Amino acid sequence: MANKKFELLDPATGKKSELPVRSGTIGPDVIDIAAVTKDHGAFTFDPGFMATASTESKITYIDGDAGVLLYRGYPIDQLAAKSSFLEVAYLLLNGDLPDAKQLTEFTVNIQRHTMINESLLRMYNGFRYDAHPMAMVSAIVASMSAFYHDSMDINNPRHREIFAHRIIAKIPTIAAAAYKNALGQPFIYPRNDLGYCANLLHMFYAVPCEPYHVDPLAAEALDLLLILHADHEQNASTSTVRLAGSTGANPYAAISAGVSALWGPAHGGANEAVLDMLEEIGTVDNIPKFISQVKDKASNVRLMGFGHRVYKNFDPRAKIIRDMCHKVLARMGRADNPLLELAQRLEEIALSDDYFISRKLYPNVDFYSGIIYSALGIPRSMFTVMFAIARTAGWVSHWQEMISDPHMKIGRPRQLYTGPVKRDYVEIGKR
Ligand code: CMC
Repeated sequence: MANKKFELLDPATGKKSELPVRSGTIGPDVIDIAAVTKDHGAFTFDPGFMATASTESKITYIDGDAGVLLYRGYPIDQLAAKSSFLEVAYLLLNGDLPDAKQLTEFTVNIQRHTMINESLLRMYNGFRYDAHPMAMVSAIVASMSAFYHDSMDINNPRHREIFAHRIIAKIPTIAAAAYKNALGQPFIYPRNDLGYCANLLHMFYAVPCEPYHVDPLAAEALDLLLILHADHEQNASTSTVRLAGSTGANPYAAISAGVSALWGPAHGGANEAVLDMLEEIGTVDNIPKFISQVKDKASNVRLMGFGHRVYKNFDPRAKIIRDMCHKVLARMGRADNPLLELAQRLEEIALSDDYFISRKLYPNVDFYSGIIYSALGIPRSMFTVMFAIARTAGWVSHWQEMISDPHMKIGRPRQLYTGPVKRDYVEIGKR
């Protein structure tokens, strides 16, 4: 709506300000609150960013009530059915779907940057045998800033493009090296003649002593999972990448910050936590007991893979993943997977329970993703790493969008201070 404004009145002074309203192409309007501080000397208070748009963006749109997710305007179900992860990565980065020539060029660019420096490979040896792969991935991605520090001018669009291609190309290699390190197996070099997901599976499962053939269904399932996880507007890890990047930090360091933020069980770590939870429940008979624990606030137990900050109807990715889960397990001859049966029963029971209905808690993307990863033979500690591989495309796109914006500002939230007022230092003997 043109020139819509909110009016702000300070009841103490009678001072009034107009707060301009900005409209996007779709979605709720946002109120520009600059005048709250400028005219009234106050800050707004919004812990957890429940009501705050932290930035303007053209990349991804979510309508949480309608269960809609669009990447650059394209519905996620269409991309999941018709596209590939690399095409989606191009779309996120560049704003439009590539034509055939652009896609080939992009694919070749990614496939030619898959190797990582040998010194980085040696760094893995410094980790303890039981290091979590997310710790290794975060450290190695951050260390890439040491290799591309002087040659990475964030104000140079070509440098930014090379960075985007490098990190999307190398993140599977970094992840696979973490996996092989944990297994104590030799690192397997990337094969540039394979597709993105086939190469990833090859680096995970090939060993030097025998041939390895990639299962096309596994590569297809993985590609779908990467598409679904590629971006999700201003989620915690993407906001972390933006915040770290807004200081002008080396972008590899900013992506590493995103990897760390993703790790938590409330975010990307949920896929790992779902399988832990299913195993802990054990059998269908134990579901009612588990659900009562979840409903008991004192227990601090959550139904992992349920609920979302934005989706209050259903997560459109969850439906696609559930269908894929059935397909993968059926084609792999594991349709009678006990974890899948347990997950389905748990979902049914939760969806008919008033606790979940009244709070609009539905299965999210990660309720089923871990079951597919398990069926593909990917170990649980690698689930969040798989999410990180996919989300790298989104992180880089958001970083690009932010850095190329001439009005970019360092991200610097304010606070409501509730600590002690000014007091004088007391000598140690007098305390
Ligand atoms: N199990 C039980 N209760 C829940 C759950 C859950 N999974 N999620 C939310 N609630 C309850 C919560 O206790 C609260 O109840 P009340 O109003 O009585 O205090 C109410 O629902 C609102 O929850 P909230 O924590 O204020 O909601 P939020 O928007 O801050 O949290 C969330 C969103 C995703 C962190 C949360 O739903 C959660 O912890 N889910 C489980 C973890 C999970 O699956 N995370 C993956 C998210 S999707 C992948 C990704 O994007 O990373």
